[in-house]
Order: sequence, then C-alpha cells, then structure tokens
Amino acid sequence: MTVPTRAPLVHVRGLSAEYRSRLGTIAALRDVDLSLEPGDLLGVVGESGSGKSTLSAALGRMSPGSCRVTSGTVEIGGVDVAGLDGPALRALRRDVLGFIPQDPIGSLDPTLRIGRQLRLALRPLRRPYDHTALVALLDGVQIREPERVLRLYPHEISGGMAQRVAIALAMAREPRVLVADEPTAALDAQVREDVLDLMVRLIASSGAALLWVSHDLRAVRRWCTRVMVMRAGEVVEAGPTEDVFGRPEHPYTRRLLDALAMTPAADEREKA
Ligand SMILES: Nc1ncnc2c1ncn2[C@@H]1O[C@H](COP(=O)(O)OP(=O)(O)OP(=O)(O)O)[C@@H](O)[C@H]1O
Ligand SMILES: [Mg+2]
Repeated sequence: MTVPTRAPLVHVRGLSAEYRSRLGTIAALRDVDLSLEPGDLLGVVGESGSGKSTLSAALGRMSPGSCRVTSGTVEIGGVDVAGLDGPALRALRRDVLGFIPQDPIGSLDPTLRIGRQLRLALRPLRRPYDHTALVALLDGVQIREPERVLRLYPHEISGGMAQRVAIALAMAREPRVLVADEPTAALDAQVREDVLDLMVRLIASSGAALLWVSHDLRAVRRWCTRVMVMRAGEVVEAGPTEDVFGRPEHPYTRRLLDALAMTPAADEREKA
C-alpha cells in the first residue's frame, strides 16, 4: 500500500509553453519542473528572455492570449489550475496566490485613485482596511506621504512607487504563495533592501512560499533558500542556494556567477 503524501503547495510538471504571433512560434518554456513547499523561498534567475515571466504568469493562468501551454500541468494545493472554472480561478487568485507583476503600473487601474483601488482589492478580506490601515500599509513599504499617495492616480506615481503599491497589495492579502516578478527592479538600493527584507520576513513568518524572479543574484543568494536557473525556457540547474551558488554544476550557472564575480574562488578572495 502506498502511503498518501501531502501534495506540494505548488507542483509544476513538464510544463511547456509557446507564444504565437504573425512572426511565428516561440517556445518559451520547455519541460519545466518545479515544486514549492510552505516556507520555500525560491529565486528564479537567468538571462532576459529565458522564460521567467512566462513561468510566473502560467502559475495563476495569467499568461496573455498569445501564450499557449502545449504540455504539462500546474497544480496548486493539489488542484490542477487548468481545470478551474472562472469563479474557482478567481478564488485561487484571491485566496491563495499573490502576484506582483513585472510591470506594476500596467497592473493598476488607470481610472481609479490608489486609495480606492486598494480598498476595492482588499474588500474581500476578513480584516477590513480603513483609511488608517491603508496609510500603515503604504508606510510599511516606505512610501513617503502615504496620505497624499492614496489620492493620486497610477499615472501620477513613479515606477518605484507603483512597485511598492503592488507589493503592499499582494502582501496585505496574505497569500500562501507569492509570485514576485522582479518586484524591486525600479527601487534604489536602500529602499530595495528594506522592501525585500519586509517581503521575505512576512512570507517566511506566515509559512507561505515565495517564487521570486530576479536579476539580482546577490540578493537571491542572501534571501532565498533555493534557486532555479533558467535558460532558453529550460531549467538548467536547481537546488539549495548554497549548492547552486557554492558549487555550480552547469557551465551557464558558472558564467552567470562569473559575470558578477560571485564564483566560490572570488568569494574566498573577498574574505581573504
Ligand atoms: N507576449 C509575448 N509575445 C510573444 N513572445 C513573447 C511574449 N512574451 C514573451 N515572449 C517571448 O518568450 C520568451 C520568454 O520571455 P519571458 O518574458 O518569459 O522572459 P524573462 O525571462 O521574463 O525575461 P526578462 O528577464 O527580460 O523579463 C522570450 O523569447 C520572449 O521573447
Ligand atoms: Mg520577465
């Protein structure tokens, strides 16, 4: 008899996807496997165009219409997301999956002031967000003058502010899985550190899992428990952070680390 094991929080198996346009077909994901357990902090790294955003979006079936999954499955909490109907998919996105997109301004509704859209987005939560709570929420992601920002429209805030609004919104929903696609790329170094610190601490303390797409390998090494390296739609290497960064097996991973002088040898030199 086989003992039933609990399904991983996120289980991607053999996922392949392609984009179709008038210029032809581009294979964006090739046979990707991934599993996330509560408490996992996974950094997804790899050159531009390697499929990181395509994978992130596929988790919540948020890919554009031109993207088609050609094989494989995505299960969240043991449920195949491909089989969900509209209401079930909305419930998944509301209750389980948090998503911080690579283009945060584009993800905000241009016709609504920041305060109003935060209130609307957070309305389904058990804990209501009144004005004071919204101010505290923005304050938490280091937005200065939160009272004023709540009254602005998305086109009136900077890219870095929009990223922090998107982060605050995703965190306030207390997701079980947070998918963050380059959530801090537009922030300056100190704010980035602080916001990442907040994001990772909240995720870790709530027992959720994080899939964090980043070009910042040093930050990934600092915060993530696991790393997945992608190239041309494929996973070239994945494992615990100290293994992948400390003893990279694939030449591509070594090249990525070399480019940043992050090889084990360079680390030794830095310590010396
Ligand atoms: N909407 C789209 N239509 C057609 N092709 C696309 C589309 N979005 C992405 N692609 C292609 O799919 C592949 C994977 O792109 P993806 O955006 O997932 O890469 P990425 O790793 O997120 O890159 P970056 O680091 O630049 O954000 C690339 O070849 C890209 O050109
Ligand atoms: Mg991307």
